[in-house]
Amino acid sequence: MQKHNRKLTLIAFTTVFTTLIISACGGAAAVPPTIAPPTSAPPTTVPTAVPQPTVAPPTVVPTAVPPTTVPPTIAPTPVPATIVPTVKPTIEPTAAADTEVARPSNPGGPGPAASLVGNIAAGTKVFADQCVKCHGEQGKVGKTNPGSTDGTVPVLNPIDATLIDKDNKVTIVNLDLFLEHGSTPGGKNPVEKMTAFGDEKKLTPQQIADVIAYVISLNK
Ligand code: HEC
Repeated sequence: MQKHNRKLTLIAFTTVFTTLIISACGGAAAVPPTIAPPTSAPPTTVPTAVPQPTVAPPTVVPTAVPPTTVPPTIAPTPVPATIVPTVKPTIEPTAAADTEVARPSNPGGPGPAASLVGNIAAGTKVFADQCVKCHGEQGKVGKTNPGSTDGTVPVLNPIDATLIDKDNKVTIVNLDLFLEHGSTPGGKNPVEKMTAFGDEKKLTPQQIADVIAYVISLNK
């Protein structure tokens, strides 16, 4: 029986010793390291995408700086003001020429007298014979004209300024229109009317040209 006890003691000792060694080396150190890492399944974190959209708006506030730097660069634009006054002078002279020229009440264009050269001396005689009775000596006194708006026949010296033009040919046409076709003055029933010397053949074209030259000479 003693041999058997020894054997048991040896076995027991060996068992304890072996157990101590194994535990001292970290136990089952060789087995566990190959099992831990493969657990990658749980990190399925899908719901984390929802809370992000509430971050964008706060980036708009700091844009208050630029508006104060723009205006100072626009101030020095007084240049156009100096261009305006240079344009007006060219428009003013044309406005003065818009005054309406006196025209006879009877229609018709210029007659053949307008293209003839008038003689002042000959026109002086024509005027004395045909015009003085209504327009006065040298055209200075208009005859009274009841029923007309003006009350008198117009004077021819000085003559209506709108009939005189810088271009003498234009002035001749202006007077010829009255002498060719005549004219009835404004008013209910004017007694005196400008005679249509051309249309009524009371004066020849040359006589009309002559008396026109005379009237123009009275106004120079
Ligand atoms: C019977 C009167 C009478 C006689 C004659 C007469 N005239 Fe006149 N004449 C008038 C009247 C009236 C007017 C105004 C007409 C009008 O206002 O439309 C006038 C207007 C004129 C005008 C236009 C003047 C203006 O201010 O509008 C001229 C120019 C003119 N006569 C020239 C003559 C000449 C030149 C003669 C002679 C050849 C002549 N007249 C003879 C009555 C007369």
